[in-house]
Amino acid sequence: MSLYPLLRPLVFRLDAERAHRLTIGLLKLRSGTGFPPEPPSTPLLETKLAGLTLPNPVGLAAGFDKDAEVPEQVLNLGFGFVEVGTLTPRPQSGNPKPRLFRLFEDEAVINRMGFNNRGQADARARLERRARWGGIIGVNIGANKDSPDRIADYAEGVRAMSGVADYLTINISSPNTPGLRQLQDEGALNALLSAVMEARDANGPPIFLKVAPDLGEGEPDQIVRVAMKHGLDAIVVANTTVSRPTLRSAFAQETGGLSGRPLKALALQALRDFRRASGGAIPLIGVGGIADADDAWQRIRAGASLVQLYSAMVYEGPGIARSIARGLAERVRAAGFANIAEAVGTE
Ligand SMILES: Cc1cc2nc3c(=O)[nH]c(=O)nc-3n(C[C@H](O)[C@H](O)[C@H](O)COP(=O)(O)O)c2cc1C
Repeated sequence: MSLYPLLRPLVFRLDAERAHRLTIGLLKLRSGTGFPPEPPSTPLLETKLAGLTLPNPVGLAAGFDKDAEVPEQVLNLGFGFVEVGTLTPRPQSGNPKPRLFRLFEDEAVINRMGFNNRGQADARARLERRARWGGIIGVNIGANKDSPDRIADYAEGVRAMSGVADYLTINISSPNTPGLRQLQDEGALNALLSAVMEARDANGPPIFLKVAPDLGEGEPDQIVRVAMKHGLDAIVVANTTVSRPTLRSAFAQETGGLSGRPLKALALQALRDFRRASGGAIPLIGVGGIADADDAWQRIRAGASLVQLYSAMVYEGPGIARSIARGLAERVRAAGFANIAEAVGTE
């Protein structure tokens, strides 16, 4: 039985960022116990993507373990993979606090962290030391806020982190680094992905691209075209939204990216747009407002080969990955499939 329903009122009395640091601290205490981890894995859920084999398709999204402090412990909670970062070439402190808000009534989060992280060298040293038992750890990379050449920052990130990443995610969709999302425009994206693919070794890790849910008409088609031209391995749909669907919480008007339940419909629609644009020719990873097995199953049927979540773990607790994986296995079996890959895009 999960203790989280009992602990949650205590955690929620803390400021959101303190609660997050406490959670990372508690996870660190688990280090050394129970490894190698045993994420829920059955032939029904084992997923192959871009040459990787994942025990199940439920991942922890970027932003929780920015500095790669606890990736193994996260996997041990039952996630099939974890994405650390966003990591920038140089350390940076991010925006002034407060910058992280729980919208309790909306089961949502608003953040304007601004890529606070200790830099790529620091995370790389930690990832080099990790016990390599085979769990899938992706590294999400970004650009420093004050960088004179953002594209060069991504190329540097590819060179710095390829050796310790099972995959890399090019994050051009954070709303909290001014101007970053402009890299999604066709010309800029072409230049960026040329530089990224040039920086990548012939046998380097697969490269994913993470996009915003706030795209205009025709943009998904453009992005898919450019991503495929450069041979990208997957598109992660999506980051947080700058839009504000109807919200009840007092923090509704805080500046930043909104995630959690109110993002669900928008992220699902964005995924469907990318599926339509690609016709299944490039794998998609569905993120945004996924809180239970029904949400995850819906995203897979809408075209996602993998799913990720972050905000729902704040509300549901650390047992969420196991519970979603179990629920997905039941749905795969009930639908008469031998493996979850058969369900991708069947809606
Ligand atoms: C506090 C917080 C920090 C985040 N930081 C990052 C980040 O550094 N890089 C990134 O690509 N996404 C970041 N995200 C976005 C998540 O990875 C995810 O795309 C988004 O929250 C939608 O999923 P969710 O509704 O399950 O939370 C962050 C989200 C939250 C809530």
